[in-house]
Amino acid sequence: MTTTGTGLARVDVMKPWLGPEEIAAVAEVIESGWVAQGPRVAAFETAFASAMDARSAVATSSCTTALHLALVVAGIGPGDDVVVPSFSFVATANAPTYVGARPVFADVDVTSGNVTAETVAAALTPATRAVVAVDQGGVPVDLTPIRELCDPLGIVVIEDAACGAGSTYRGRPVGAGAEIAAWSFHPRKILTTGEGGMLTTSRPEWAARARRLREHAMSVSAADRHASLVSPAEEYEEVGFNFRMTDLQAAVGLVQLGRLPEIVARRREIAARYREELSDVPGIRLVDDPSWGTSNMQSLWLEVLPAYGTDREGLLLSLASAGVSARRGIMAAHLHPAHAGRDHAPLPVTERLTAHTLILPLFHQMTDADLDRVVDVVRSHGSQ
Ligand SMILES: Cc1ncc(COP(=O)(O)O)c(C=O)c1O
Repeated sequence: MTTTGTGLARVDVMKPWLGPEEIAAVAEVIESGWVAQGPRVAAFETAFASAMDARSAVATSSCTTALHLALVVAGIGPGDDVVVPSFSFVATANAPTYVGARPVFADVDVTSGNVTAETVAAALTPATRAVVAVDQGGVPVDLTPIRELCDPLGIVVIEDAACGAGSTYRGRPVGAGAEIAAWSFHPRKILTTGEGGMLTTSRPEWAARARRLREHAMSVSAADRHASLVSPAEEYEEVGFNFRMTDLQAAVGLVQLGRLPEIVARRREIAARYREELSDVPGIRLVDDPSWGTSNMQSLWLEVLPAYGTDREGLLLSLASAGVSARRGIMAAHLHPAHAGRDHAPLPVTERLTAHTLILPLFHQMTDADLDRVVDVVRSHGSQ
């Protein structure tokens, strides 16, 4: 256990929730002798598709590689513009560049932190061929109006559901209403496989192509070749990638997927307690469910408003002095050197949220005492 200068155990911003069942599942894979992509990956894909109400699921090495594949199978390439929020982890803005396309930044809505049909419309160019709509921090993006805008224009809407497992949109899992979506199982997310990702799609031909492309575009998968004594000759019809998930990861993913409802319920319970304890503190605003869905509360962010007793950096320092590890809010890609040179319309909400928000600690094993320590620090500035 890490202790802090206060002598108390550190309160982390996030901890994955893994236990003996995941250990047993990994041990079983090791004992089976097949640790690369194989039957567990196939089983995880089937289970994930069913849990997310998706037609097909293709496991990948990360959400970043799933986004890359999504753009390839959607036919996006050089000369195309892809509208993305700047207010997202940098992978969202990086992905279009991998296929030679140009990311064009859209602003976000101040309440949800997500793009809207209006902010997307304002960022469209004559060359726009795709939009990446993110369920930021687990808050479902209002996808239907964005699709109503884009579908008639032949613009593909890719849902970046990296943070979205366990969130709902209009009564269904997020991603279910998307033509194509990408998911992350990084330990910062609530369902983890160490590293890992998934692509889900309603279009069988996109799923089939993504399945081939993630494995060097081989006509016969490594698992199928291994299964036969005389391996059929494989062919490589196009240039593919190695974006495979391993069976070790998928075994963990299957256990985690089974726990997802419990994980989400616990996170929402902790978030509700934060809300209750902080509701009367002047000058702070906590992200909440939008009217169109529910968040898995992957990232419970708080905006520090002018009426609060200190600014975001002051609050982060006070939390750190009390042994609490909070995090600055979501980054804005256009403010980083990798994407700074791009033309974009003003992004006032993105700049406000990235400067004034922070993410509170929230993890499954969090105790009431952990939460009280965080709440005490946040309240201490509220009364100044
Ligand atoms: C919105 C979003 N997109 C993409 C990613 C990339 O996910 P991965 O780390 O699985 O590549 C992340 C990870 O933080 C994310 O938050």
